[in-house]
Amino acid sequence: MKVLVIHGPNLNMLGVREPEVYGRRSLEEINKSIREEAEKLGIDVEIVQYNGEKEIIEKIHNALKDTQGIIINPGAYTHYSIAIRDALVSVRLPAIEVHLSNIYSREEFRQHSVIAPVCLGGIYGFGGASYILALRALKMILEEK
Ligand code: DQA
Repeated sequence: MKVLVIHGPNLNMLGVREPEVYGRRSLEEINKSIREEAEKLGIDVEIVQYNGEKEIIEKIHNALKDTQGIIINPGAYTHYSIAIRDALVSVRLPAIEVHLSNIYSREEFRQHSVIAPVCLGGIYGFGGASYILALRALKMILEEK
């Protein structure tokens, strides 16, 4: 079972970027915990981070080759990228939207996701643990298939 984890723009700045909102853990530390959890769950995980929309879209397209599910934190693209939404619809792989922060308790412009309607579900507000919960959920869903 292979799962692709995509971190979107500015998430490479975790630890430095607004720690009061996103916490003090670096992306590398979060990725380490994702890899550890994946190993426990018997999931083969690939983790990528892109600041560009194009790279995210191309990675989603390529996932069709060998990937069973996608976990995506689209960063700010969450709120307006119809192109990323269309890419997810194109490949029709089960996807979970993840956010470190609770986007529904923040600025109004963050409270709308154009990605959510094309995902199985979303997990937000638990910091780096949001990814861990998403991994567990995806495993449950993929096993039911
Ligand atoms: C975020 C929330 C987005 O609104 C923001 O633009 C981010 C991070 C989160 O994980 O909480 O870059 O996706």
